[in-house]
Amino acid sequence: MCGIVAYMGEKQAYPILINGLRRLEYRGYDSAGVALLREGDLNVYKCQGKVSDLEAHTMGKELGGTVGIGHTRWATHGPPNDVNAHPHQSTSGDLALIHNGIIENYAAIKEELLHRGHSFQSDTDTEVLVHLIDDIQRSEGVDLAEAVRLALNSVVGAYAIVVLDRKDPDVMVAARKSSPLVIGIGDGEHFLASDATPIVEHTKNVVYLEDGEIAVIDRRKGLKIRNIKNQVKTPFIQELEMHLETLEKGGYDHFMLKEIHEQPRSIRDSMRGRLNLAKGEVVLGGITDYEQKFVQAKRILIVGCGTSWHAGLVGEYLFEELARIPVEVEYASEFRYRNPVINEDDIVIAISQSGETADTLAAIELAKGKGATIIGICNVVGSSIARVTHAGSYTHAGPEIGVASTKAFTAQVTVLTLMALMIGQRKGTIAGSRFHRLLNELDAIPAKVEKVLQGEAQIKYIADIYKEASNALYLGRGYSFPVALEGALKLKEISYIHAEGYPAAEMKHGPIALIDEEMPVFVIATKGASYEKVVSNIQEVKARKGKIIAIVTEGDTVVDGLADHVIGIPDTADPLVPLLSVIPLQLISYHIAVMRGCNVDQPRNLAKSVTVE
Ligand code: AGP
Ligand code: GLU
Repeated sequence: MCGIVAYMGEKQAYPILINGLRRLEYRGYDSAGVALLREGDLNVYKCQGKVSDLEAHTMGKELGGTVGIGHTRWATHGPPNDVNAHPHQSTSGDLALIHNGIIENYAAIKEELLHRGHSFQSDTDTEVLVHLIDDIQRSEGVDLAEAVRLALNSVVGAYAIVVLDRKDPDVMVAARKSSPLVIGIGDGEHFLASDATPIVEHTKNVVYLEDGEIAVIDRRKGLKIRNIKNQVKTPFIQELEMHLETLEKGGYDHFMLKEIHEQPRSIRDSMRGRLNLAKGEVVLGGITDYEQKFVQAKRILIVGCGTSWHAGLVGEYLFEELARIPVEVEYASEFRYRNPVINEDDIVIAISQSGETADTLAAIELAKGKGATIIGICNVVGSSIARVTHAGSYTHAGPEIGVASTKAFTAQVTVLTLMALMIGQRKGTIAGSRFHRLLNELDAIPAKVEKVLQGEAQIKYIADIYKEASNALYLGRGYSFPVALEGALKLKEISYIHAEGYPAAEMKHGPIALIDEEMPVFVIATKGASYEKVVSNIQEVKARKGKIIAIVTEGDTVVDGLADHVIGIPDTADPLVPLLSVIPLQLISYHIAVMRGCNVDQPRNLAKSVTVE
């Protein structure tokens, strides 16, 4: 998604803004711009394209100033072009504003402002904000902060904004609602950004602005926060745990490959402090207060999007088998509009890596409004979803920069496994011996992931054979069906090869018509409840000359004689297979995409966090 960076201090703002925008590039965007304040001059530079295009655009221009705002845009209203890029200015040129989100009632506001003589340059919803603030400032004779507060009281929608006023160069005003904004507090300087990545190299002291809050940063008075009702709020300063080096690629060619290889650690981190082998127990502190509700739940709804939805599908199998609670997994975008039946004793699990996905947020608000208990599984501390849920467990996977989700998926599945084990044990639906066996198996997963990663060279060899494919089919049964979907999503979103995931048995109801010698078919055929059935499906594919790449339990000799390629993974309990079988599929997609010259970390048309619907 789009990004915001702002600075006020003693240093030159421009380099800080540009570097900050580069740190936010992973979020996906189509335009970039900055505004710099210097001795009463407000210089605005913006253009469609990348941050590098913005730098080229500003060559030789006046870039001085110790106050500035920067923006990367992901268009929602008005096509990507120079005029629609942010910052947007008031008619007088006094104000400059940047915005993440959507102003839903912008048309009505624009109509009113046009009647009041304002002229608009762009097609965006954002521009109405800067004119509205300007209009209020003039008509009410109030300062920038009060004009922003009054303006936002008449705005419907989602926003993270920062505003500058050349009439008052020592003040910067920011506000947020349903779009993230973080304030960095340095020594005599302040930073603002959409997340902590542009801030962490300057300061570790941050304040996460809450929905409905307005931050006023004054060069002399420092930071003040009040809410939209004008109530003063005390800033809650947190210390960032994230270090800059974790944001670098750590020697890998792409963030995605780094994050695939981080999974032994990220899975361990998602269990840390929660899985106690000695005591034979699972403790999820974040949901303790709601444990009883969970145990007594007659139904669990799981909402999410994309990869998070796939993790939710694994969760369905986990909760139904281990805790014997009926589960329904819903695409958040469908759930929010289909007027679903939601009961007060429902548990809703909302899964989101970014914690900012608009559809998932909306699904939560809907369910919350009907009295359900919302449990979050997020990766970003302090994210919007993390804040609106009743309770939850962070995945602690660390920043996931690559647009294609990898370590977040396995961390989400790990947390879901812990939840299902904990609730199952509390309910007595898992035999003690099996519970302890699963705990031990789960504890052994990080080392087994490491072992799978050691097979990368063979996986790369297979990727090279199939890099020119135009289609691919992914098959799995039981716990491996959601992994088949996830493998297909990985391939299509980074290599642009069309791929479909299917329950293996469903193939005969249609997809088998697609099988020919050009079609690579990835099959998850590990030892377990449905192994023999999957072997039959492999034979059906082979009979039609399909090319079979099978993920098998290491040492398997049956599938070895049928498939064109087999990738062995360590044996583990059925419910834990997704944590291992997804790894080769992530690597195959990564290497095929690289061999096809695709932009692996920032695939075309995609954003890391879809904060608009
Ligand atoms: C998955 O690789 C994609 N990046 C995408 O499907 C993603 O999972 C989806 O947009 C949900 O994002 P979230 O987990 O941050 O809510
Ligand atoms: N809705 C605004 C626009 O289309 C902001 C989009 C964004 O969040 O980047 O310009």
